[in-house]
Amino acid sequence: MIRPAAKKYQPFPSIPLSNRQWPSRVLTQAPIWCSVDLRDGNQALAIPMSVEQKLEMFDSLVKVGFKEIEVGFPSASNTEFAFMRRLIEEKRIPADVTIQVLVQAREELIEKTVESLVGSRKAIIHLYNSTSPAQRNYVFGLDKPDIIQVATRGTQWIKDRLPKLSGTEVVFQYSPESFSGTEVEFSLEICEAVMAVWQPTPKNKIILNLPDTVEVAMCNVYADQIEWFISHLSNRDRAIISVHTHNDRGTGVAATELAMLAGAERVEGTLFGNGERTGNLDIVTVALNLYMHGIDPHLDFSDMNSVRAVYEQTTGMSVPARQPYAGELVFTAFSGSHQDAIKKGLSGWKKKNQGAIWDVPYLSLDPEDIGRKYREIIRVNSQSGKGGIAYLLENECGLMLPKGLQKNFGATANDFIDEKGREVKAEELRNYFWQMYVDLPTPTYSLVSFDAHRAGANTKCEAKLKIEASQREVELIGEGNGPIDAFTAALNKAITDRKLEICWHFQIAHFSEHSLGTGANSSAIAYIEINLDTSKSYWGAATDTNIELASIKAVISAINRAHS
Ligand code: KIV
Ligand code: ZN
Repeated sequence: MIRPAAKKYQPFPSIPLSNRQWPSRVLTQAPIWCSVDLRDGNQALAIPMSVEQKLEMFDSLVKVGFKEIEVGFPSASNTEFAFMRRLIEEKRIPADVTIQVLVQAREELIEKTVESLVGSRKAIIHLYNSTSPAQRNYVFGLDKPDIIQVATRGTQWIKDRLPKLSGTEVVFQYSPESFSGTEVEFSLEICEAVMAVWQPTPKNKIILNLPDTVEVAMCNVYADQIEWFISHLSNRDRAIISVHTHNDRGTGVAATELAMLAGAERVEGTLFGNGERTGNLDIVTVALNLYMHGIDPHLDFSDMNSVRAVYEQTTGMSVPARQPYAGELVFTAFSGSHQDAIKKGLSGWKKKNQGAIWDVPYLSLDPEDIGRKYREIIRVNSQSGKGGIAYLLENECGLMLPKGLQKNFGATANDFIDEKGREVKAEELRNYFWQMYVDLPTPTYSLVSFDAHRAGANTKCEAKLKIEASQREVELIGEGNGPIDAFTAALNKAITDRKLEICWHFQIAHFSEHSLGTGANSSAIAYIEINLDTSKSYWGAATDTNIELASIKAVISAINRAHS
């Protein structure tokens, strides 16, 4: 890089727009969308799509709801021409979808393009030539009047051939390519010259597409260019103003949204922003940005994963993990505080009346609306906290740890995850939980038998049990208000009588349980916390098809953990 940068680069001049309106407007409706995946997107691929791949992509675009689709550059190659013919001859174009084709202002190319359209119901013929000073000087070596002549002559050549398309409703689109790098006065002049040749009417409008071919300025400048153009255009009622942005400065989406505020009615772009260099406008993002503000985008991304799969398969491109709305990680939180807020937000939102406005923290829209699952939201690595761990255990393994145990397990689980140095899946966490609380690898005590009964309705519960401790069996009895109480009493008495090598007494501080499935044979899990008279406390957990046994085993698990 050089210093000072101003020796080589200059700021973009501001647009002479007084009384600009766009900053105080708000968007209230979706634009007319035109997908250019099969043309601009395809032109940018190292290996362009085959006819079969183009057909698959076309069907996917139709399914999403695009009503205008630029299907190619039929004069550019045999594949492009053949694709056009298959679309038309195999009647693959739905009645409410209009195809669009691109062509340069060269007579033989226009001839071929018109030929490719014969038999189509409705088509947009899109003519372009480049207008910026850099293109005029370096590429064409032509002055402004000659550049205007290229555009008007091309328009006339298309007009002359309309009789060949007598069965086709033809809409004409003109793009002053590199519009954003062109003097606004010249863009206007050339577009008005083209209109003078084509003679659009309010009923049969021309589409004036004003491309941000290379993003050369901040997006507010592009909005100014669009507003300036619209406010100076004669016969405004005879033109649809369309925008076509690229993403060189990383603001293609912003440029489009501001251009819509400035009056653009139509938007060209591609799925996920595939296109030359840094890409075209990502239509998915603009559409879902509208959606998350309550505006119907008239495009349906309910099955985002399928749209993405077709895109990846046909283009060979991949959608980055952080791509807005569509990326693998965009609804995922690893950070503990985010997980906690999402968990609370989701459960709070679900408790509201059906149809409540979406206001869950960290999630710009409900992932389920675009076919994403809540289970993707919370994933666990060393940045996560006990909340995320508990969420995963509950949602994917059906384990509803009580608050205290979440904290207790969270601390050791964090070390376990940290040591792994990667994301940890729910199954791994469950196994680790089992090893720590349910199936301890070397327990000192284990239950051999347990029986609890009451002699009468108003009598205490009597427990008789056998415990194996260091390879010897010890028989114990105790009395209490219920089986756990009687078991606790039996153990504490055995500790006092020194029948067990334990040097503290304990009380039950927490007991909860839940089933681990449905059906008569499903087991239950019990969670127990014991407080020792040394003022320490320990958690244990155990499963059994008999809930009473699960709780007793959970007490033994806690004792083993305290003893180890
Ligand atoms: O980016 C561009 O300017 C284009 C035109 C052909 C519209 O793709
Ligand atoms: Zn483009």
